[in-house]
Amino acid sequence: MDMITHPVDPAFKSDILRCFDHQSYAIPARWLYDRQGSELFEQITELPEYYPTRTETTLLENYSEDVANFSGIGRAVIEFGSGSSTKTPHLLRAVQPSAYVPIDISGEFLTASAAQLQTEFPDLPIYPLEADFMRPLRLPDEVADHPKIGFFPGSTIGNMVARTSVDLLRSMRETLGEGAQLLIGFDRIKDPDVLVAAYDDSAGVTAQFSLNLLLRINRELGGDIPVEQFRHVAVWSDLYARIEIYLECVADVRFEVNDKPVQMSKGDKIHIENSHKYGLRDARLMLRAGGWTPVQDWSDTQDYFSLILADARPFKDAP
Ligand code: AVJ
Repeated sequence: MDMITHPVDPAFKSDILRCFDHQSYAIPARWLYDRQGSELFEQITELPEYYPTRTETTLLENYSEDVANFSGIGRAVIEFGSGSSTKTPHLLRAVQPSAYVPIDISGEFLTASAAQLQTEFPDLPIYPLEADFMRPLRLPDEVADHPKIGFFPGSTIGNMVARTSVDLLRSMRETLGEGAQLLIGFDRIKDPDVLVAAYDDSAGVTAQFSLNLLLRINRELGGDIPVEQFRHVAVWSDLYARIEIYLECVADVRFEVNDKPVQMSKGDKIHIENSHKYGLRDARLMLRAGGWTPVQDWSDTQDYFSLILADARPFKDAP
């Protein structure tokens, strides 16, 4: 039934088949977000251990006016991966945008949240864009001549390895153009116990979020993975400055995915997610590598999370 209304994404199928054929057990984190996964992620954002959403929202409540002092008012706000756009109103009230362009790959989410925001900002022109923002995009013609500020909250960039992050920052610069600004959220390096708890909560919601990936494979690719034979594992890697999330086999298992037999051994681990953490200087260096010049930043008193405002200045070679 589900398969009739939502045909399987061929990229999902090939990523999953590749994971099990080549025995290098890894699956890109983007596949965690089907309907069920997105709902579970919303629950994660409300967990006591999961500080990022709450901390960033408070930063936006407290400092959006200050952001507006640096960025000026009246730019078009372009939000990358807008999802449910819950943090956006604080920023919009302060920067008084000429227009708002939420970008998301999920069209369903996009229309619903744009409609919701429109009731809160009846006079704001909203131009939702259903697109993959990992590549340079053509923005709606209506905002072509507007000065722009990109908004990339949620530490979404944390899911990407450095090389991919820099590619994305460069794409965003191309999409927004010279003279644009970017307000971006980074999750900070902190006590590993705090980090691990945020990704392995006591209510087990994050574990459900991870295990939903196996359920999704079963649902969409006709798999029979015994989900109860896997456990969610979150570890801090100091070398990579990231939380790594795995699904580990608790016993030897055999199952089928897309009519192909798979065998895994007790202790085998499927790497399903990274969540990179940054020092303020690490974050600034990465922004510069991606073509953005940091101009100001805001952090909470515990330095758990930071917002950085950066400019797309003309490139100059020397000095
Ligand atoms: C959506 C990538 C910001 O890394 O904190 C939360 C995803 N995964 N708990 C994060 C996530 C498990 C989240 N991001």
